[in-house]
Amino acid sequence: MEGSRLRGALDPSGSGADDIAAVWWLLFFLGFAVFVLVVAALFVGVRRSGRPEDRSTSRAWMLGGGIALPAVVIAVVLAVTLSTMRSSAQNPPDTAVEVEVIGHQWWWEVRYPEHGVVTANEIHIPVGEPVALRMQSADVIHSLWVPELAGKLDLLPERVNTLVIDATRPGRYPGRCAEFCGLQHANMDIVVVAHRPDDYASWIEAQRAAARVPVSAAAQRGLDVFVASDCGSCHTIAGTTANGTTGPDLTHLRSRESIAGGMRDTTIPDLREWITDPHAVKPGVLMPGPSLTDDEIDDLLAYLEGLE
Ligand code: CUA
Repeated sequence: MEGSRLRGALDPSGSGADDIAAVWWLLFFLGFAVFVLVVAALFVGVRRSGRPEDRSTSRAWMLGGGIALPAVVIAVVLAVTLSTMRSSAQNPPDTAVEVEVIGHQWWWEVRYPEHGVVTANEIHIPVGEPVALRMQSADVIHSLWVPELAGKLDLLPERVNTLVIDATRPGRYPGRCAEFCGLQHANMDIVVVAHRPDDYASWIEAQRAAARVPVSAAAQRGLDVFVASDCGSCHTIAGTTANGTTGPDLTHLRSRESIAGGMRDTTIPDLREWITDPHAVKPGVLMPGPSLTDDEIDDLLAYLEGLE
């Protein structure tokens, strides 16, 4: 699906990615210059072959090209890299938006502690403002990489790592897990959505609301199925008795673009496929296998459809 298309670190739309792209181009041009020099020296050497050897010229070439030049190039690269690493590891300003990101096998939990908002597989941020991502893992090591915005940073089980990101223009920035984390590592996508400030405020406001109450008899039966089947021991739906934290919060499920770490959309056919047999879609996933009748699934979907 389109969400898994990975755009490049060389199309930076954030300060962190800008700095990294600058280092990349520096390495590219230095490498290119060295390549041109080596090829030129090769031609000179070939043209001079057969002539008597001039020992002092040879020594100058060896010392200059073999020691002095690499030393200068490597020193420049080291200095620029260290300085970029330092600036990318700086503490966020006090005004930064605080977002908690928790890696799970194989999805992303995203929390906004200041607003009481919990979502999954999407990080919504206001454009132009620094955002402090406080990242941790619930199980094994994961790594967050949104190439257009910033470099990679690991999510570890025992400590919180902070990645500061910002987006210079509104848009949708795909990312993914960049550290092998088990069977479905390749299906652990995330997207950062950068909004204009007003749109961001509206998004927060909508996410803060409790889940919509069922509006049809089928949806009411769906909520009953949800509760009776114990879905709520793993999933939270704000405003209901469902308060599990093992799986993604479903309060505003249909406001999101994907489920299962980006493998399927939040359309009804995709949700049906997922609920009917999640292991057929994503082998190894924690969600239990099929246990509902077709009627129960219909009702459940009627309920989930309203969770916008
Ligand atoms: Cu999570 Cu790879």
